[in-house]
Amino acid sequence: MSAALAPDIEGDAPLAIDVRGMTKRFGQKTVVDNVTLQVRQGEIVGFLGPNGSGKTTTIRMICGLLTADEGSGTVLGFDVIEDSLRIKNLVGYMTQKFSFYEDLSIAENLTFVARLYQLKPPGRHVDETLEALGLTSRRNQLAGTLSGGWKQRLALAACIMHSPKLLLLDEPTAGVDPKARREFWDEIHALAANGLTVLVSTHYMDEAERCHRISYISYGKMIAEGTVDDVVRNSGLVTFVISGPRLERLAPVLSALPGVEQVAPFGTSLHVVGSDLPLLEKSLAPVADKHGVAITRGETSLEDVFIKFMSDSTDNMAQNGAETASGPKTKSGTGARA
Ligand SMILES: Nc1ncnc2c1ncn2[C@@H]1O[C@H](COP(=O)(O)OP(=O)(O)OP(=O)(O)O)[C@@H](O)[C@H]1O
Ligand SMILES: [Mg+2]
Repeated sequence: MSAALAPDIEGDAPLAIDVRGMTKRFGQKTVVDNVTLQVRQGEIVGFLGPNGSGKTTTIRMICGLLTADEGSGTVLGFDVIEDSLRIKNLVGYMTQKFSFYEDLSIAENLTFVARLYQLKPPGRHVDETLEALGLTSRRNQLAGTLSGGWKQRLALAACIMHSPKLLLLDEPTAGVDPKARREFWDEIHALAANGLTVLVSTHYMDEAERCHRISYISYGKMIAEGTVDDVVRNSGLVTFVISGPRLERLAPVLSALPGVEQVAPFGTSLHVVGSDLPLLEKSLAPVADKHGVAITRGETSLEDVFIKFMSDSTDNMAQNGAETASGPKTKSGTGARA
């Protein structure tokens, strides 16, 4: 279930991000199209969407690294177009790709960052940051020899050392094991509880559920926003769970039924998802007796909703306009999770 909204988020906490109509074109392609995003101070907002949908580009416009072609608004109270330098000083940006010097140690990398931000004295800031993130014992290890989880911790350390007011984290936990991811998220929640605002892009469903709210962007367009529960409810999808023998043979049969939009194996059962409840019920009615399976109503998952979003939207980056995010435009589902 989604994390509860902190009380002040719905109330009168100021907006840390308040941008409207953000648009970015590369050549002929509009990769971010009229995006509006609002994030309150202290809020953790998950930024989701298929590969190539404009998450990194949007994040880079918000932190002033990329100038929007159109759009306006404020980040931490500063004009997103005019005041990018001030915004940069108040933002911690964790890039999608590890961007530290592999042949410098953890401490040397952090010292470099401390000097960039003109933190004085740099040594004290580095020591405190190493301590806060449990990196002290590895301070002399070369960054290039760190495992993925420790690299991610170094990157987080580097982007919070100058005490930013807003963290922009671009897929910070990709490829990191569950324990390290959990520790990372505990850290993020602790920082947010102290007033730091976080916008974090991720492809992980469990991480989306750890956010106060999520925003889903699809090929440049923001198509859903709200708590996880809101997004699932507003999708209008319904789910049935089918259990019994020989489900692998049943899956293609179910996929062909009217009203069935997705069929996906979940452990020892199949989830059948659609948006037209009466039609789905009618299609599934004879299945239980005919195939000797049990059919019950289940809960629609966030993943089901995202698969639907991806099937519905056209990849404007694809060569062939008929392609969708999950491949050629066909009935989505069977195999989408394989
Ligand atoms: N500098 C650039 N020049 C040309 N095209 C670019 C540039 N940067 C990004 N793009 C294109 O813009 C689109 C959006 O890319 P972006 O990196 O913002 O997506 P994303 O949502 O972060 O994807 P992913 O989940 O794979 O990280 C893609 O089609 C990408 O190829
Ligand atoms: Mg990206």
